[in-house]
Amino acid sequence: MNDFDLEAHLRWAREAKASDLQSIERLLAAAAAFKIARSIEWRFGRSGLKVKKTMAGFDWDFQPKLDRRAVEALFDLSFVGCHDDVLLTGKTGTGKSHILQSLVLKACEHELAVRYARCVDLVDDLYAGLADGTYEKRMKAWCRVQLLVIDDVGLGQLKRRDDEPTAAHMLFTLLDRRHMTASTAITSNLQLSAWGKYLGDATLAGAVLDRLAATAIRIDIDGPSYRQHLARQRADAQSRTHETPRREVVS
Ligand SMILES: Nc1ncnc2c1ncn2[C@@H]1O[C@H](COP(=O)(O)OP(=O)(O)OP(=O)(O)O)[C@@H](O)[C@H]1O
Ligand SMILES: [Mg+2]
Repeated sequence: MNDFDLEAHLRWAREAKASDLQSIERLLAAAAAFKIARSIEWRFGRSGLKVKKTMAGFDWDFQPKLDRRAVEALFDLSFVGCHDDVLLTGKTGTGKSHILQSLVLKACEHELAVRYARCVDLVDDLYAGLADGTYEKRMKAWCRVQLLVIDDVGLGQLKRRDDEPTAAHMLFTLLDRRHMTASTAITSNLQLSAWGKYLGDATLAGAVLDRLAATAIRIDIDGPSYRQHLARQRADAQSRTHETPRREVVS
C-alpha cells in the first residue's frame, strides 16, 4: 500500500461489516505496510540513484555465460553483513550497472544505508569538497554507508587537477577506509591491468585492486551488448514499418 487512506479503511469496515478485531487487524497491517513503503522511498531518495531498476526484467538467456547463481546470491545481501566487496566487470552494455542498480533498491528494502554514484560523479563530489572546505565531511559521508555502489569505473574522464589529493588518492582513501568494515560494490568495463592508466597512478590503482582482491566477490560478464541488441531490434522494427508493400507485376 503506497497511500495510507483511513477513510477508505473505514468505508471497507462498514461495507464488509467487519468485526472490531478484523478492522483493527487490517488497519494495523495497512499502517505497517505504509511505514515500510515510506522507509524504502526515503532510503532510495537518499541513495543518489534516480531510476528504480529491478532484476524482474533481466533477460538471463541473453547472457548465457553469466553466472546467474552468483548474481542472484548477491541479492540476499549477506555479503554486506560480512563486509565483503563486489567487483563486476565486463564489456560495455552487458548489464553491469543494471545489476548493481537493482541491488541498490534491494538494499533499501533490506533497510540498509546505501549510496550510489558513478565513479566520475563521486570524484567530482569530493573535488567540490576540496573547493569549499567540506572534503573530510564528504569523505566521511561516503565512508559511513553500509553499502556503497561505485558504478562505471572507466567511463568518463577523471579530472586531472593539481589539487592534492588526486582522484586516485581519493578512491584509494575511500576504499582503504571502507576495507573490511563496510561493503563497496563496483562495476567496470576496464581490464584490471588498465586501472592504473585510468586512475593516472599505477601504484594507487594497484593498492585499490589489492584490497578488492582480498574481499571482493568477482563476477565477469563475458558476452554481447544488450544496447546493441536493443538497437538491432529498433532498426528491424523501423525497417518493417518503412517497408513498402511490393506491387504485383501484371503482365
Ligand atoms: N540481460 C539484460 N536483460 C535486460 N536488459 C538488459 C540486460 N543487460 C542490459 N540491459 C539493459 O541494457 C542497457 C545497458 O545495460 P547496462 O547499463 O547495465 O550496461 P553496462 O554493462 O553497465 O555498460 P557500460 O559498461 O557501458 O556502463 C540498460 O538499459 C539495461 O537495463
Ligand atoms: Mg554501466
